[in-house]
Amino acid sequence: MDAIRIYGGSCLDGQTTIQGSKNAALPILAATLLIDGTCEIENCPEISDVFHMQRLLESLGCTVEREETLIRVDTAGLSECDMPSDSVGVMRSSVMLVGALLARTGRVCMEYPGGCVIGARPIDLHLRSLRRMGVTIKEQEKGFCAETPGLKGAEMKLPFVSVGVTENLILAAVLADGTTTIEPAAREPEIQALCEFLQSAGAHIEGSGTQRLVIRGVDKLTPVRYRVPADRIVAGTYLCACMCAGGRVFLKDAPVHHMESVLEQAAAMGAAVEYEPDGIVVTGMDHAGTADVVTTGCYPAFPTDMQSPFMAVMALSGRGGRIEETVFENRFRIVSELRRMGADITIHGNTAYVAGNGRLHGAIVQAQELRGGAALVIAALGADGTSIVTNRHYIDRGYEDIVLSLRDLGADLELA
Ligand code: UD1
Repeated sequence: MDAIRIYGGSCLDGQTTIQGSKNAALPILAATLLIDGTCEIENCPEISDVFHMQRLLESLGCTVEREETLIRVDTAGLSECDMPSDSVGVMRSSVMLVGALLARTGRVCMEYPGGCVIGARPIDLHLRSLRRMGVTIKEQEKGFCAETPGLKGAEMKLPFVSVGVTENLILAAVLADGTTTIEPAAREPEIQALCEFLQSAGAHIEGSGTQRLVIRGVDKLTPVRYRVPADRIVAGTYLCACMCAGGRVFLKDAPVHHMESVLEQAAAMGAAVEYEPDGIVVTGMDHAGTADVVTTGCYPAFPTDMQSPFMAVMALSGRGGRIEETVFENRFRIVSELRRMGADITIHGNTAYVAGNGRLHGAIVQAQELRGGAALVIAALGADGTSIVTNRHYIDRGYEDIVLSLRDLGADLELA
């Protein structure tokens, strides 16, 4: 039962509510480690990456309770600083705990983190930057141990923009001695959410949402209740589902103010988007027109997490397009699977050329990572015949219940 069977060809008609953001919930849960007492985090998606994070926090001695999408983290029992390798190995965001643990306990040992296989994804910049804050790191073949007598604020000039590094440094800096500047900082909405959470707990952070963050360390943070914003990538995926299958859907709570580049691209590719006070109504694509060009980049540019869903849309459009991936070097793993469905796609370097023959046919295909897996499911909605997408567990890392959500949108699919 690690697969999804999709009966392609039916137009969508329905509505779904967009879940809380994975990429916001994970660092915010890590940030609770900085706070003595119990924090309440609302709207945490029920996905396997968040379950892993819950287990990691528990293994460190925290008490974690979940009531549907509310997670309570009480850090009073925080005692461990060795992270269990079984959880770390499967999720890259476990690296997020390093900055927070160093701030709280002064020491952390962990194996190198895992996560989706979308490029080499080293953590060299995380470690290099933490060293500049007074951390000694001993690297071994499988992992590392980091130690500090006390984190010190520092001026960080980063060689490139990284979401994870920015988050880790924020977590290390809020309780550090002195002021930390991070430049260029990532500006992703999820980083803004992390800053908002920490600010409500008493942190001094200036420049949230800009390329320069200034963080003045404080002595203590106080427990708060915070609501995780809706997931812009999940909303974008269901928008693409409607573009693949056609029809009209309502995406309740879609965070439109953080989806500009995606909505612009969708409109350029023929989708009609109407804005409602509590979400968007999407009408599926018009297949005419010229080829499209998508270039991924750091926020506010087009998100790399949306390129596979848009590749599915391009493969089903009559006009095709071109996707240039500038963030991760190995994010075209979906291509071989889309080819099995009849897509005509060639790759030159970091660019994929999608011929766009207007049709795909059903096939048995394999999810190889989170967003690519979801993209195969939505491609299958627009394909002729039946498809099976295997390795559903990759998709479960980020989508609460993709089968149920797409059924709510009128699609015909089931677990297989
Ligand atoms: C986060 C998101 C992921 C998204 C990505 C880019 C989470 C949990 N994940 O991943 O969904 O696709 O941002 O928007 O929020 N790099 C290094 N050395 C480092 C760190 C990063 O070389 O120490 C490289 C990466 O290999 C990649 C680039 O920097 O090529 C950007 O990665 P980064 O922004 O750090 O992505 P993540 O935080 O891993």
